[in-house]
Amino acid sequence: MRIAVFGTGYLGATHAACMAELGHEVIGVDVDPDKVARLQSGEAPFFEPGLSELLERHTASGRLRFTSSYELAAQSADVHFIAVGTPQRPDSPAADLSQVDAVVEALAPLLTRPAVVFGKSTVPVGTAARIAERLQALAPSPDVSLAWNPEFLRESTAVDDTLSPDRIVLGIGSGDPKRIEAVTREVYARSLAEGTPLVITDLATAELTKVAANSFLATKISFINSVAEVCDAVDADVAVLADAIGLDDRIGRRFLNAGVGFGGACLPKDVRAFQTRAAELGASSAVRLLADVEWINSRQRTRVATMALDACRGIDKPRVAVLGLTFKPESDDVRDSPALDVASRLAAAGVAVQTWDPHGMDNAERLYPELEYGNSLLDACKAADVLLVMTEWDEFRRLDPHELAGIVQERVVIDARNCLDPAAWREAGWTYRAIGRR
Ligand code: UGA
Repeated sequence: MRIAVFGTGYLGATHAACMAELGHEVIGVDVDPDKVARLQSGEAPFFEPGLSELLERHTASGRLRFTSSYELAAQSADVHFIAVGTPQRPDSPAADLSQVDAVVEALAPLLTRPAVVFGKSTVPVGTAARIAERLQALAPSPDVSLAWNPEFLRESTAVDDTLSPDRIVLGIGSGDPKRIEAVTREVYARSLAEGTPLVITDLATAELTKVAANSFLATKISFINSVAEVCDAVDADVAVLADAIGLDDRIGRRFLNAGVGFGGACLPKDVRAFQTRAAELGASSAVRLLADVEWINSRQRTRVATMALDACRGIDKPRVAVLGLTFKPESDDVRDSPALDVASRLAAAGVAVQTWDPHGMDNAERLYPELEYGNSLLDACKAADVLLVMTEWDEFRRLDPHELAGIVQERVVIDARNCLDPAAWREAGWTYRAIGRR
């Protein structure tokens, strides 16, 4: 198929490269000419395992191109994916739809041939119906259909998630439903042949499926973090508890890691946007539940910052080594990162904060120049009074507590992700502290 993908951020660039990998002819479109130039030369503008290989291979073969020209995209493709960002608005917790609207307003007048437009961006329910009307009003061709096809990829496993998704959700809106389904089956032919379920529904259900999935994951994390607080009160172990309840198939072990809580560009803003939309619709149960999920999550950051400040009490000019700056491992993404939030609170309280992250240093330094950035993990730990592990990178799990004991000033470690082995650290003479773990 001839496919255009609008937006080349974490979602769009990955989707474009994976569509080329699936055998389609793809053009990626972005308003940022620098990004377009980097992508066109086969370079990923961010760290995502496996993405560079796909970009290199398919830009070299010519099956994948990038442009800033909507005209070229409209000429080159019959299937259009909207994959631009929907961040939180600066003035409210609602989603900012300006990028989605800009794509629709620019693309629709250029659709002179039959086309299917798929929305992939995460949007508040009702947005797709509004876009369907705009397409009908602006497109010269009478045969332009709109479908909503939410994306469930995770950063750090985005390529695999796109090539082998758990499910494909298709909300059918305006246009011929049979044609939309046929195009969808062709776009995702390989995944469907491998048995990936295709859920066909209406626009509103498809839009809601995405925010409900992210809100459920966020709820699971806040649930275990609230249980962790009880564990702390009675000296129980939340990690063992999570293993035990996770063995029940109905519960499952994933997303039950207690710690500093969720961050990133998706879960926090999706929870807030869903809450805002639910309030507009008068759905008060959802508003209340999501408000609690968010409140518990933000409290985790305060709890970790307080633990670190308590550990610094009585120390003249305390130094904390913060290991991990990204919102999760195997990513360079520091957007709404709990690690940086806590690190900047410590810096604001007068603590010298020495940091290290395998991939997040450059992005972090641009946002938080007040922190110190080490040349290596050991450099960041030098003469520290407290070690604070904020992101569960493998290299932190594998740390040798004996080796570090000779580098730091005081042997105090706070494991804000419950990713270290408490017994090993205690045996090496460390005071080990974590959330919900004795
Ligand atoms: C999330 C969803 O998992 C994807 O399905 C969705 O497509 C994506 O958002 C999106 O909307 O685009 P992602 O933001 O990449 O993906 O990250 P997650 O793996 O969901 O992790 C989110 C946060 O939760 C991270 O900060 C992570 O450290 C935290 N987390 C995760 C916990 O605190 N505890 C856990 O047990 C699991």
